[in-house]
Amino acid sequence: MADQKMKGGTVSIMVLIFLVLSATFHGCFAAIGQVQPPRKRNTVVNGFGSSVFLTVSGNVYPLGYYSVTVGIGNPPKPFQLDIDTGSDLTWVQCDAPCTGCSLPRDQLYKPVKNNFLACKDPICAALHSKAHQCTNPNEKCGFQVDYADHGSVLGAMLSDNFPLRLVNNSLSSPLLAFGCGYRLQSRSPHPPTTAGVLGLGKSKASISSQLSGMRITKNVVGHCLSGQGGFLFLGADFVPKSGMTWTPMLQNSFDKHYSSGPAELLFGGKPTGVKGLDVIFDSGATYTYLTSKVYQTVLNLVRKDLSGKQLQDVKDKALPICWKGAKSFKSVTEARKYFNTFALSFNGASNTHLLLPPEAYLIVTELGNVCLGILNGTEAGLGTGNVIGDISLQNKLMIYDNENQRIGWASADCTRKLR
Ligand SMILES: *[C@@H]1O[C@H](CO)[C@@H](O)[C@H](O)[C@H]1NC(C)=O
Ligand SMILES: *[C@@H]1O[C@H](CO)[C@@H](O)[C@H](O)[C@H]1NC(C)=O
Repeated sequence: MADQKMKGGTVSIMVLIFLVLSATFHGCFAAIGQVQPPRKRNTVVNGFGSSVFLTVSGNVYPLGYYSVTVGIGNPPKPFQLDIDTGSDLTWVQCDAPCTGCSLPRDQLYKPVKNNFLACKDPICAALHSKAHQCTNPNEKCGFQVDYADHGSVLGAMLSDNFPLRLVNNSLSSPLLAFGCGYRLQSRSPHPPTTAGVLGLGKSKASISSQLSGMRITKNVVGHCLSGQGGFLFLGADFVPKSGMTWTPMLQNSFDKHYSSGPAELLFGGKPTGVKGLDVIFDSGATYTYLTSKVYQTVLNLVRKDLSGKQLQDVKDKALPICWKGAKSFKSVTEARKYFNTFALSFNGASNTHLLLPPEAYLIVTELGNVCLGILNGTEAGLGTGNVIGDISLQNKLMIYDNENQRIGWASADCTRKLR
């Protein structure tokens, strides 16, 4: 989903980035700390496929999203897309004409007549999982995506070239299916800031699945996000051979998300009584959402831990729960000493911990207050799902390995510039 993402009114257009990778790239994984032995040794590196590597910009606060710039068309035009592991469909704002589009007209995607995807296309079927029927197999494939609590987009499916520089130095320009969105509805007060969404989910329609179907990359998605952007890759070339903590990816036919579980919640290394949590990893959500009861537990733990300390409750429009210190905070680093580390312990295996230190659940606002970046998912209408959003995915190399049905992470310095 793309929660909290449709924010701000400014649009920054970045130059099309064709990243050329050199051997020095592998240096980035030297930054991985907290090395834990991999639980299972699966190799995905053999056989076909190269990888695509993209620079990510963005932050959790104040921006609220992470994006990459990709070229579409021939000649390619750059589009800034919100990276979203919580949804499958890639779409761009469309010159169709469009209602609700936020970009100037010359920056919209202009559909080419014969590019429309036919209803009979398997990708169209994948988008309409339930009872997909075509009255005429050659009719256009329409789509509609409803994001968890931030509006919807409706449009037509097309295919066009996505010129990509692969890490083996080949140029590839596959025809990929994506959505041209011409009816955008935003429930937040702001129109979308990015040109669209890069859908990185599990279904056949996602970009990673399409590239893997064409044997260009393995169906592996990785990202590394920080306060100053980071990077994203598709393919298996950058999966570290060691140092990753892996958990099995849950395979529910009703849940197309990247999810793992059950997990137990720890606070300061101690049990909290919260067990059996299934969590969804969603780079399209800015914050982390827990179901009402778990959220209440987290709130109680944090508050209890703060009693007798110098922090006071304060109202801040950034988030529902905030505190102020004796002096205003300049960064989370200054505030972190008042807080403890949460952890999700998967499968009861003591080694499989996803650590959530204070900087993985707090922000410091423009007013210098520190706020809780864990929200009440029940209130946000997320049902029974617990969603791990960008705030908690920072400073980690996260890998969604669809080839081996596992999700892995390792602490990493995601800001390391790769030259
Ligand atoms: C790079 O990888 C792609 C996709 O697997 C492949 O088609 C291409 O031939 C490779 N190029 C080189 C130079 O190995
Ligand atoms: C979470 O939201 C639900 C639905 O709005 C509400 O009933 C519940 O009290 C909230 N929980 C907490 C701890 O605020």
